[in-house]
Amino acid sequence: MTSAALRKAEPIVEGEFHFTWDDFAAIASLLMEQTGISLPESKATLVYSRLAKRLRRLGLTSFLQYRQLLNSPAGADEGLALVSALTTNVTRFFREPHHFDHLRQTVLPALLESAKAGGRVRLWSAACSTGEEAYSIALTVLELCPNANTYDIRILATDIDPDVLKVGRAGQYRHASLEAVPDKLRQRWFEPCGEKPEWASIKQDVKALVSFRQLNLNGSWPFQGAFDAIFCRNVVIYFDEPTQAQLWQRLRDRLTSGGRLYVGHSERVDVPGFRPEGHTVYRLDGQAGGA
Ligand SMILES: C[S@@+](CC[C@H](N)C(=O)[O-])C[C@H]1O[C@@H](n2cnc3c(N)ncnc32)[C@H](O)[C@@H]1O
Repeated sequence: MTSAALRKAEPIVEGEFHFTWDDFAAIASLLMEQTGISLPESKATLVYSRLAKRLRRLGLTSFLQYRQLLNSPAGADEGLALVSALTTNVTRFFREPHHFDHLRQTVLPALLESAKAGGRVRLWSAACSTGEEAYSIALTVLELCPNANTYDIRILATDIDPDVLKVGRAGQYRHASLEAVPDKLRQRWFEPCGEKPEWASIKQDVKALVSFRQLNLNGSWPFQGAFDAIFCRNVVIYFDEPTQAQLWQRLRDRLTSGGRLYVGHSERVDVPGFRPEGHTVYRLDGQAGGA
């Protein structure tokens, strides 16, 4: 056997399930194909620990069996579970608060004026995880315009992971996770959550502004129309550089002229057309976007 072949068959983790570099490469390639997420070899033990739970639940005894399941006709659902297990869903209300200050002070006043005159306002939380980002956008809109629901204002919230979307749609959060929500907004737009004293429910008026949809940012986007602002934060860090550049271009094509793109604290946008407008906020100059 060559040394490359030997390495492929070498176990990575001495654990309950046999897990080789070959298994890792097959799983990394499937994840890349399905999501654009690039898994470096340094994540191999993390992949093992996250997927070991799936193997146990499915009653499988090796990663080879798991790969066979993924490649079988019955494997589509498991493909989604794999994405769910391997993606990082960390998020919180008003994460990177300067983005919401910028939205409130610089972007929303003109958009709301236009909405009140009959215009259309579209905002997109493009990797929304469990919904806190989309609801933070909605709360910022409602802070300036409590009857936003009477205008043509919509927030699209998308993520690849169906499990996080369920949480977003339910709109129930632990009180402890609402610390960053300003008191005034918390009192006005949350209500007690049935028999769960440690939880609060986001009110229907907030939910009504937000639509949750499953969407792979690196797949096709089955919707039309341009957005006035897109939040695409803390997701492209998991993609390789060509995938990142392609996504920034596609997002640029979905922004209105003068539209804003908000990105994560360690992300940078370097495709033509965008002008930085403060830390991790970009303004699109030039032609209107739209499909
Ligand atoms: C770390 S969370 C970021 C949540 C939120 N944007 C924030 O900044 O707080 C990353 C989210 O990106 C989602 N994600 C990963 N790859 C994706 C893809 N190809 N398309 C859409 N969403 C993806 C994950 O499911 C996860 O919910």
